[in-house]
Amino acid sequence: MSSVLTGITTNGSPHLGNYVGAMRPAIELSKRSKSYIFLADYHSLIKQQSPELTHQSTLSIAAAWIACGLDLENTIFYRQSSIPQIMELNWILTSITPKGLMNRAHAYKAIQDTTDGQDKDKNVQMGLFNYPILMSSDILIFNADLIPVGSDQKQHIEMTRDIANKFNLTYGSFFNLPQPLINETSSYLPGLDGNKMSKSYSNCIDLFAEEKKLQKQINKIKTDSLEPGVRKPTDSTIYKYFKCFTSVENIEIIDHYFEEGMGWGDLKKELFKLINTELAPAREKYFNLINNPRHVEDLLLEGETKALKVASKNLKKIRSLVGIRPL
Ligand code: TRP
Repeated sequence: MSSVLTGITTNGSPHLGNYVGAMRPAIELSKRSKSYIFLADYHSLIKQQSPELTHQSTLSIAAAWIACGLDLENTIFYRQSSIPQIMELNWILTSITPKGLMNRAHAYKAIQDTTDGQDKDKNVQMGLFNYPILMSSDILIFNADLIPVGSDQKQHIEMTRDIANKFNLTYGSFFNLPQPLINETSSYLPGLDGNKMSKSYSNCIDLFAEEKKLQKQINKIKTDSLEPGVRKPTDSTIYKYFKCFTSVENIEIIDHYFEEGMGWGDLKKELFKLINTELAPAREKYFNLINNPRHVEDLLLEGETKALKVASKNLKKIRSLVGIRPL
């Protein structure tokens, strides 16, 4: 049976775009396949250095995934930092990864492109440069096959395949070559302004905003000034939101609203009802978990015990293949 693995960096708390694009599909998948889902807390240290944020965000993201219904029977749910074998493999892979491969990483090149002047590496930490190797270690230590990620992460999975291949050729075949599982566009939720939803664009809806705040945020979704009835539903950001929260059978009802010429204000009220109905039960669970971090800690420890078993068994074989074994 193939195994699924994905990681979430612990930078802040999840927004509605994360829920639709990553959490909801991965949680569905976790009901059908063996899954590894982890909090990439070591990766988060590259993006921000606030100990408080890292700690708080670990609780918030763990609680959010559990509250949204992650299947903890089928899923091994853990913190990256609790599995030291990932870091050991990271060094073994660093030792065989060509620097030229890392030079080609989009995230690294993007920072270089924004840096004026002589030193293109001025704002680049080694953690950022090596980011794809740590990500490869996350995946390869469990020999995972399917990696659900956003399209921005596709290159990292290709690099993981390159690195795995290099290892297999150097030391003997051990690693599977993982496949990315890119979310289809139907599960893509734009931000309030129609661009990609992202904290850095301040166009997010909080996943667990209280009802009043949720309605307020929904009211901010950008609309045009076309007369009702003239608008083509598929062009509007609101319609894209409806599509993400309406079942295929019910989408006709929504199309009807648009054809009838329902005003933006009323459409936003309907949209609020839909989103709120889906999220209200999870919201309550989320706040219960946030107020009971000990329970979240225990659930993570259970996952970590299971993950450690697999990781230590695999690392033992990997170390032996590279020649690090008892005399
Ligand atoms: N880089 C991923 C992101 O920013 C997070 C991540 C870290 C990850 N390690 C991973 C995703 C391993 C999939 C597999 O979204």
